[in-house]
Amino acid sequence: MHAIVVYESMYGNTRHVAEAIARGLGPIGAAHTLPVSHIRDTDLSGYDLVVVGGPTHVHGMSRESTRKGAVEKARTDTALTVEPDAESEGIREWLGSVRSAHGKAAAFDTRVDAPALVTGRASKGINKKLRHLGFELVAAPESFLVDKESVLEAGEEERAERWGRTLAEHSAPARTDRTS
Ligand SMILES: Cc1cc2nc3c(=O)[nH]c(=O)nc-3n(C[C@H](O)[C@H](O)[C@H](O)COP(=O)(O)O)c2cc1C
Repeated sequence: MHAIVVYESMYGNTRHVAEAIARGLGPIGAAHTLPVSHIRDTDLSGYDLVVVGGPTHVHGMSRESTRKGAVEKARTDTALTVEPDAESEGIREWLGSVRSAHGKAAAFDTRVDAPALVTGRASKGINKKLRHLGFELVAAPESFLVDKESVLEAGEEERAERWGRTLAEHSAPARTDRTS
């Protein structure tokens, strides 16, 4: 079974979560991560499971203006390091360019550690788009939390790895037990 975790990340948190999810997926076979800036014409039809995630910006998926804002913020906040290609097209633009798809998928995001009603969740929009494209969703959209300084909360990488393991269980081909 082949799985891919496509992610977008400004400051590295979503990348760390994506890498942890891929580790959790490990038992089902090859699982690798790919920044959305490198996806170009990647053929998704070769994957049994496609996991897609990005940071929550202004209650949803990032836009060109919010990515610019994120890079600007890092200029004044020296604690933040901007990922390579942070200003490239994001998950929203990529999903907007995909024509149709099939197979299994799941959505995740990173967002501030506060009630989702207040923060919004990028994973909700990603999940909706994946469903409309024709994917079969194998799990409810999931959020992983950062603090107000955009640092991943303690234990979130481990939770992401466990979530990856759960996705692996839900994506494994159905067993055909023989009874004799
Ligand atoms: C321009 C901008 C807008 C943001 N808007 C929200 C928001 O509406 N809700 C939220 O929970 N977090 C918001 N955040 C915080 C991001 O979700 C957080 O920085 C991100 O999850 C960190 O992931 P990354 O390091 O992969 O970029 C925003 C951050 C930026 C830079």
